[in-house]
Amino acid sequence: EELRIGLVGTGAIGRSHIERINTRLQGAKVVACADVNMDFCRSVAEKYGIQAYDSGEEMIASDAVDAVIVTTLDPFHEQYVTAAIKAGKYVFCEKPLAPEADACRRIVEAEMAGKKQLVQVGFMRRYDPGYRQLKALIDSGKYGLPLMLHCAHRNYDAPGFTTSMPVENSMIHEIDVLRWLLGENYKTAEVVFPKTTRNAEGELRDPQIMYLTTESGVRIDVESFVNCRYGYDIKCEVVCEEGSLNLPEPANTMVRSNDSRITPICHDWSERFIDAYNIEFQEWINACREGRVDGPSAWDGYVGQVTAKAASKARDTQTVVNIEYEEMPEFYKK
Ligand code: NAI
Repeated sequence: EELRIGLVGTGAIGRSHIERINTRLQGAKVVACADVNMDFCRSVAEKYGIQAYDSGEEMIASDAVDAVIVTTLDPFHEQYVTAAIKAGKYVFCEKPLAPEADACRRIVEAEMAGKKQLVQVGFMRRYDPGYRQLKALIDSGKYGLPLMLHCAHRNYDAPGFTTSMPVENSMIHEIDVLRWLLGENYKTAEVVFPKTTRNAEGELRDPQIMYLTTESGVRIDVESFVNCRYGYDIKCEVVCEEGSLNLPEPANTMVRSNDSRITPICHDWSERFIDAYNIEFQEWINACREGRVDGPSAWDGYVGQVTAKAASKARDTQTVVNIEYEEMPEFYKK
């Protein structure tokens, strides 16, 4: 039987997920939607021939819905994820699980109290074919242990960005995917400010470099440059004892013209990670239908926010901050 999904938050990414599930993926359909902006929600429902609900909670409780996707603004993730846990339904929540680590912790507690793992967080980089290749090569042990990671996260521009957002909205993706790549937690965080670009708006400090160390001593640098003005560029080099591994980019035709060689790169994340989103949702649908969660868990969402909070403190105080995690509960050990 097809999985019947209810989606709350019919904004930009919510609509792109409806589109991908109902037109490209298999085994599920988004059959219902909700949003505080009722008029807009109705127009989305009409476009896709699905049912609009007056409230997200009502939709989540409905017998017409088997599983839930939460794509509202960050501060409202918690209420809908909690409602889905109460209803005993699988729930996919876009990143971050919640803006505050305490709210993530409450979700973890609610899920454990329900005695069934239901929550997956939208850290889609774990599904990007390039990062998966990197992970397979690291795990093969062929090149020895990873020692250093040099990473960059560059956006063409970022209207409205403030100094706190590179860690909390952009590099949160590196925080999750690098922890997954290396299979270990972080120990310290530091954020430094290089010279600021003239293209930064207002008080924004851009670029920024976040340094992380892991429990085993791997040293990571992540550059965030949100106004790089040439395109969207994600880099990750893993330097191992006997080899260096570079994140591949999606292939693009190289053109020779006007005395030049040009290989276009992506303009933004929606283009760069399109395969990752498709794979992420197909695997989530398959897992829900088979009765399990195997993607990034509520615990991963919680650890991500604890790390981001430490990195934010490091940035604001311009010091190196130690990161303390609680022991992962048995419940989340695979
Ligand atoms: P958006 O602003 O386009 O859409 C948000 C929607 O939530 C709006 O339609 C708004 O009316 C609705 N909303 C706000 N409060 C609500 C409430 N209390 N109840 C129900 N609906 C409510 O934002 P966008 O870009 O679609 O982002 C949504 C979420 O997706 C955010 O959490 C964001 O962090 C995440 N996201 C994740 C990405 C990724 O790389 N995985 C990329 C882009 C967004």
